[in-house]
Amino acid sequence: MQNKRMAAATTRKDRLSIMNQEATAPKKRIFSGVQPTGNLTIGNYLGAIKNWTTLQDDYECLYCVVNQHAITVRQDPAALRRATYETLAVYLAAGLDPEKNTMFIQSHVSAHAELAWVLNCYTMFGELSRMTQFKDKSAKHADNVNAGLFTYPVLMAADILLYQADLVPVGIDQKQHIELTRDVAERFNAIYSNTFTVPEPYMPKTGTKIMSLQDPTKKMSKSDENENATVRILDDKDTIIRKFKRAVTDSDTVVRYSEDKPGVSNLMAIYSCFTGKDFDAIEKEFEGKGYGDFKLAVGEACADSLAPVRSRFTELMADKAYLETVAKEGAARASYLARKTLSKVYRKVGFVEFK
Ligand code: TRP
Repeated sequence: MQNKRMAAATTRKDRLSIMNQEATAPKKRIFSGVQPTGNLTIGNYLGAIKNWTTLQDDYECLYCVVNQHAITVRQDPAALRRATYETLAVYLAAGLDPEKNTMFIQSHVSAHAELAWVLNCYTMFGELSRMTQFKDKSAKHADNVNAGLFTYPVLMAADILLYQADLVPVGIDQKQHIELTRDVAERFNAIYSNTFTVPEPYMPKTGTKIMSLQDPTKKMSKSDENENATVRILDDKDTIIRKFKRAVTDSDTVVRYSEDKPGVSNLMAIYSCFTGKDFDAIEKEFEGKGYGDFKLAVGEACADSLAPVRSRFTELMADKAYLETVAKEGAARASYLARKTLSKVYRKVGFVEFK
């Protein structure tokens, strides 16, 4: 192809431009995923999805809706189906361009389950037993400690390794799973020669861990039972403002970023993410004002920033045909890349192939 292009290039300028394109280093590849469970919160948005939109020009990005991970805890089928499309719609509404990013649904690319099986045989029982998320989730779902919950990190390793991803943007709570992915990749590479890119966790500089509004020592979680603890991406303005008004602060009255003021600091972090103002500027802005004014300002900044996301989301959810097209095209591209890795793996471990 390249040679044909080169042969067809008649002027020196054309030839130089083709050479330049070839000399440009390929973009690094990014993979990440979100589980389609519950309604996404501003923690998911500010900590992950909003940052992804800043990566789309500099990296080759794949974003997966990991519905196979979701069934490690019991799901209502209709709710899972709806949440799967909603997650894809949030990706798009947040500004991920389907021309630039590959967005797809995990169960549409069968190579994930296939590679996960192989990797299961290169992951140790002891390693999986040490995963803190497994320990937490098996305590929380004591009546359903299934094998999928135990091997969840192996499926996650398969997600990442299938695409030879260089970087994986994740929150701090997923770092242990990335470490395991690296260990499994290195183990496989050591046995069979280089097969997988060993990925690195990627924490964007602006990425922030957003805490619960009701207990600011705890991460904001989409499954929190206290509705006032979380702000959903799709909450309306009144709801958002009400939740911020009820946010836990402290008995002080000063808006100041400090470790011993976790509630206020969390609100400042949220305000900073939505307005781009730094902490010094925020402290000045609210000097001499009480928490009431501050909380209202955070609520308004949040609601106003989310308004366009919410309206785009509503449009997208009314256009299933479009969402299906994005998911289909994403799955086709993802499958092509995934097959390449999977056949390499099958060859290396000694699975017979038809000639
Ligand atoms: N385990 C991740 C979470 O709960 C979701 C996930 C699944 C993921 N596969 C992934 C994240 C691959 C990054 C890469 O947040």
